[in-house]
Amino acid sequence: MSKQFDVIVIGGGPGGYIAAIRAAQLGFNTACIDEWKNDKGGPAPGGTCTNVGCIPSKALLQSSEHYEHAGKHFADHGIEVKGLGLDVAKMLGRKDAVVKQNNDGILYLFKKNKIAFFHGRGSFAKAGGEGYEIQVGEETLVGKHVIVATGSNARALPGVPFDEQNVLSNDGALRIQSVPKKLVLIGSGVIGLEMGSVWRRLGAEVTVLEALPTFLGAVDEQIAKEAKKAFDKQGLKIELGVKVGEVVNGKAGVTVNYSNAKGEAQKIEADKLIVSIGRVPNTIGLNPEAVGLKLDERGAIVVDELCKTNLPNVWAVGDVVRGPMLAHKAEEEGVAVAERIAGQHGHVNFNTIPWVIYTSPEIAWVGQTEQQLKAAGVQYKAGTFPFLANGRARALGDTTGMVKFLADAKTDEILGVHIVGPMASELISEAVVAMEFKASAEDIARICHAHPSLSEATKEAALAVDKRTLNF
Ligand code: FAD
Ligand code: NAI
Repeated sequence: MSKQFDVIVIGGGPGGYIAAIRAAQLGFNTACIDEWKNDKGGPAPGGTCTNVGCIPSKALLQSSEHYEHAGKHFADHGIEVKGLGLDVAKMLGRKDAVVKQNNDGILYLFKKNKIAFFHGRGSFAKAGGEGYEIQVGEETLVGKHVIVATGSNARALPGVPFDEQNVLSNDGALRIQSVPKKLVLIGSGVIGLEMGSVWRRLGAEVTVLEALPTFLGAVDEQIAKEAKKAFDKQGLKIELGVKVGEVVNGKAGVTVNYSNAKGEAQKIEADKLIVSIGRVPNTIGLNPEAVGLKLDERGAIVVDELCKTNLPNVWAVGDVVRGPMLAHKAEEEGVAVAERIAGQHGHVNFNTIPWVIYTSPEIAWVGQTEQQLKAAGVQYKAGTFPFLANGRARALGDTTGMVKFLADAKTDEILGVHIVGPMASELISEAVVAMEFKASAEDIARICHAHPSLSEATKEAALAVDKRTLNF
């Protein structure tokens, strides 16, 4: 006997579980299928984000930052720390507990919203009269609508498979049992910088090898430069413009052969190697061929701007489709699709999706960079304000970085906001709201911001667009 649903969601990551909740809220009889297993073989919904991505990485970033503060910065506040120690097992245990709280939270939300949860792999079987048949183990589910949210996997270097012992993906990078003496990361993107920061703070000698000649090419140049200065000062060694050659995974560690920016042959030995060169869309086991679901040459499910696939009533969201691979982008698409199924006008504004890199300093941005505006020939005005001139940042003892506004030269509409500095991840929300409401830089400049707060730097950067900062 098959089980009939209005909506079946395949994948329980941020795209999938949020889509399922919204569909259930809208009155649909909804199922969510997710195959992730915890170490006991039980369900662990939440996907990459909860299990081996956003959540555990932020837990380790927080723990390692506390350790660095205790060792290097508490003394500035007159706090003496003697006999500082590090218990990596406990730190990892805390991280695992945080992950479990999130897994359990999602299982609770499934119950609360009366979503039928199936633990296992969902595969398309066939398209029939009542909808699409999805096989999960022995069970057959039939859904009028199917939302595919099967996420992504780490991309391996060709010929260098992840063994998660020496050659690590994001998964192994979050489970290193003791601080490696030497750690090499390939790729200085978001994971390279976040995971590189964690293990550097805990005492590893970290080298990041990046193929591109520019550091964080997608980030506003001025902001990326400021961030690079801070990382250099911290001792995070980043080599740009390298070409990675043979990687030898030996018993004792890994040797990476590469040529540097000058084309000179180099060799670096490491106890562990983290490969963080991007991610690939995941449709393993989904069996898209059974129903003729179309994928592109990268393996992503082809969708239009509404997340519709080539098949009627089959939708796809999150990392498995085009666009930035971010949890909040996946969530927004999940909500929008559920609303579209209900005949509503769910919408996702790609221009106001914030990006955050949770290093120290944090890097956050929304909208266009200065280089993008230049390339598009847009006339703009820029305003920056350094945290050095912000009272709260001085009190915190963290004055690295700045807030930068880019506004249309004629209309003053905010086109982009870029932040490098303390709590950039939180500060960026104001800019997202402002841009969503098509605010001008003057709107932000006229709003009362609490004193002393880091958000005053945002107001001052908005004032700087009109060359009238008050505190700098
Ligand atoms: P996923 O989270 O990958 O979820 C897909 C789920 O589907 C998984 O549980 C998988 O097991 C399941 N699945 C796949 N196929 C099937 C099948 N056939 N049947 C049943 N289940 C299936 N993003 C941010 O916004 N902020 C961050 O701070 C951040 N940090 C990150 C840190 C790291 C180290 C990594 C790797 C990623 C990070 N990301 C972050 C990116 C974020 O994790 C992804 O963008 C997000 O998880 C995508 O959500 P998703 O629902 O599309 O897919
Ligand atoms: P990434 O796309 O951020 O960075 C990959 C980097 O590797 C790029 O700089 C690229 O030029 C470089 N690279 C590619 N091939 C290379 C090679 N052969 N040799 C050397 N360098 C090479 O990808 P990353 O860091 O793996 O993260 C994947 C995705 O996960 C991110 O794009 C992001 O969407 C998401 N993520 C988001 C986070 C956040 O929001 N804070 C945190 C971590 C990941």
